[in-house]
Amino acid sequence: MNQNSLIKNKMIEIFVATQNKHKQKEIKDILKIISKDIKREIIPVFPSEKEKVPEEGKTYFENAFSKAIWWIENKKVNIPVLSEDSGLEIFALGKYPGVMSSLIPHKDATDKDRCLFILQKMKGISKRDARYVSWVVLILPQENYWIADYGETYGIIIDEIRGENGFGYDPIFFSTELQKTFGEANQEEKNLVSHRMRAISKFKKVFEKL
Ligand code: IMP
Repeated sequence: MNQNSLIKNKMIEIFVATQNKHKQKEIKDILKIISKDIKREIIPVFPSEKEKVPEEGKTYFENAFSKAIWWIENKKVNIPVLSEDSGLEIFALGKYPGVMSSLIPHKDATDKDRCLFILQKMKGISKRDARYVSWVVLILPQENYWIADYGETYGIIIDEIRGENGFGYDPIFFSTELQKTFGEANQEEKNLVSHRMRAISKFKKVFEKL
């Protein structure tokens, strides 16, 4: 699709630099909601082949930024690139696991292993407040322009696995706002309050002008 037809049809293609299928689905739905708000269709383009993209930053921002740059430099992506990095932070554990969220107890663990590992770590701890944080970076490679922002959502780590929706730590994350776990919430409900929705929504004005 060339630039002229995109403008004429009020459509804009954005490369979404994530290979996580759950995140892809969430971001697709979020972009659909934002498209309606700004009356402009944002079409997500996802990586077509599985690639090994390094993720070695010490912060969510560093990871989100370096992932976006990786696709621009290595795969010559030259449409706007949206990249995200996120994690769960449990205050009683010093904001653990944070940027390590997808690596504990080891990188090949399943989502269920990770939830059980956290439940074990939280045994006997009564202060169970937590939040999810999402940092999002948008890079416009043709204009040498980038912006970054974040979103967060608060909850409590319950002491069991509850619900089968979502991914990662959703079945043990009881959302204060929804009064149910993200595992029990459907996608529409999660999107009302999620860290990812809140972060990506901050780019509405930029999307409008693309
Ligand atoms: P990364 O951003 O690819 O490093 O992965 C973030 C990790 O944090 C995910 O693999 C999940 O374990 C966790 N995480 C981030 N956001 C969510 C969410 O919305 N639900 C459940 N887990 C999440």
